[in-house]
Amino acid sequence: MSTLLEKTAKDISYKPVGQFEETRFEKIHNVIFEDSNEGSIQVAREISDLIRKKQALGENCVLGLATGSSPIKVYEELVRMHREEGLSFSNVITFNLDEYLPMDKSNMQSYYYFMHEHLFNHIDIPAESINIPDGSLPQEEVVDFCLAYEKKIKDNGGLDFQLLGIGRTGHIGFNEPGSHFNSGTRVITLDHITRVDAAPAFLGIDNVPRKAITMGIATVRNAKRIVLLGWGDNKARIIKQTIEGKISSQVPATYLQEHDNVTFVLDKGAGSELTRNKTPWLVGPCEWTDSLTAKAIVWLCGKTEKSILSLTDKDYNDNGMSDLLSLEDSYDLNIKMFNKLQHTITGWPGGKPNADDTSRPERAEPAKKRIIIFSPHPDDDVISMGGTFDRLIEQGHDVHVAYQTSGNIAVSDTEALKFAEISNTITPSTESQSIIDTLLNKDENSFDVAEVRSLKGAIRRAESYAATRYLGLEDSHVHFLNLPFYETGTIKKNNLSNADIDIMADLINDIKPHQIYAAGDLADPHGTHKVCLDALFETLKRLKPEPFMKDCWLWLYRGAWHEWDINEIEMAVPMSPDQVLKKRYAIFCHQSQKDGAMFQGDDSREFWMRAEERNRNTAAKYKALGLADYAAMEAFVRYKLD
Ligand code: F6R
Repeated sequence: MSTLLEKTAKDISYKPVGQFEETRFEKIHNVIFEDSNEGSIQVAREISDLIRKKQALGENCVLGLATGSSPIKVYEELVRMHREEGLSFSNVITFNLDEYLPMDKSNMQSYYYFMHEHLFNHIDIPAESINIPDGSLPQEEVVDFCLAYEKKIKDNGGLDFQLLGIGRTGHIGFNEPGSHFNSGTRVITLDHITRVDAAPAFLGIDNVPRKAITMGIATVRNAKRIVLLGWGDNKARIIKQTIEGKISSQVPATYLQEHDNVTFVLDKGAGSELTRNKTPWLVGPCEWTDSLTAKAIVWLCGKTEKSILSLTDKDYNDNGMSDLLSLEDSYDLNIKMFNKLQHTITGWPGGKPNADDTSRPERAEPAKKRIIIFSPHPDDDVISMGGTFDRLIEQGHDVHVAYQTSGNIAVSDTEALKFAEISNTITPSTESQSIIDTLLNKDENSFDVAEVRSLKGAIRRAESYAATRYLGLEDSHVHFLNLPFYETGTIKKNNLSNADIDIMADLINDIKPHQIYAAGDLADPHGTHKVCLDALFETLKRLKPEPFMKDCWLWLYRGAWHEWDINEIEMAVPMSPDQVLKKRYAIFCHQSQKDGAMFQGDDSREFWMRAEERNRNTAAKYKALGLADYAAMEAFVRYKLD
């Protein structure tokens, strides 16, 4: 029987959602899984098969390992296999890719700590078989260490398997842009983008080390088998560049195009920019579903710089869409698409009373709807749908807003100190004084004590009330859920539990909403939006038998981190210039998140600027497609609950 290592990458029996196709665009074998869980389990299986195969031969198995968010589930699965299936690591020797410099092993941000926390502490690997670059060495010893590290890998017969993640700069290990094809283990200066990405874990970019020790490109390339993990929309752009672009030292991961046994294991988000997924009509024949047709027509308008109703048969033919024309001519395709988009536009997000609603996004009845707007953090509501929020209140609906998390970790110490001092001036107390002392003496890497977290949560609550009062919502309609999963005081959150779902279910049961709005904006850097959406789905599943649920519609908004594509939008709510300003002022109420918010992600603009630009862009795109010309638009997708 052939084993994985004897097969070429293309033979590997992964069961991806979209099978790998050799296309004229792709230069690296890749498989796309439904989600990162499925992909990670498959990779863990490949690793465990290899370990067992080597065991049977009485050989060591030499693994190159990565850190970061990408491999966490692979390690989780390997630990499970050790515990439940008796997978032994006694013959495994590991070499980690990299470590920050300087970095102490005991530091929670060290890769040494990470690897022990996620893998080594839970398996039977001998301590002497673990190799991680040492970030605590004095400068004069580092070069010799790197040479010895490289030699040790060779002396052990080279890497049988190398696990990789990829940075947004295209780094593998910490081989940043400019890295040489033949580079070995060495010291590297981290790219600014890499440091921005690491900033949340270090509680601010100033605390992120500027250097690291990393295995080189040649060290990685010499591995017999390489698997690179890519999860999430944030990685989509660099994954496309790596798989489809030219080999270049500016995107070091492209060097992997020259390796003959490499697989990229992706989820749908990370694979979404690949040509075969983004514009499949450019690759081969397509199954023309309604949504693919809409996507293709919007793309064609962009490509030809024409409005929908101006597209001709020739435009379709010239751009890989001739098979679509064999089903319908361009005139019919254009009209259908125009009407579809036209019907998404409404100034009545809660439904227009006494109007024919057959081609409107929302039902006319009941005229006054009960509505809950779920906001993951205390500000996503106004950032992402402030204009729609305002209209729903003005149009007389029974609107409630529910802030799912306290958002306390995003308030800076300086901001908190200001409030603690004001409070202590008005009513001096030992509690306020102790918070002031704690904040003044806090070491930049330490986490907040409960009292400070509670003050920071209170600041965000007060800001939220300022915004909802400004929009005219009664305080009794504002709910702070403080979901427990979030309350760790660190970036790393707990898993969802029944306690979270109970809180959500109580509120929904109480209000029995006709409409729920929730964040479908899954690109936030800490993943809180995704957990909040999972919590909502879980709750709605639980509540499904309740009679009110059959009349409950769920609308997903975006805006803080990214926006829906035009072809996905099912409700577009226009805003006048005045409404744009009103929304801006509502966002301004969240002062702790202005002027240098702690967690900006990779976009240095303030949240109001991002939201305004996205809303303006959506309107501009509608206009370019030949629809009405609005100042701005908020966009929603309806999530069907069955
Ligand atoms: C980590 C490493 C890096 C990461 C990359 C992606 O050992 O070498 O190349 O794999 O920065 O990081 P995540 O997985 O956190 O997105």
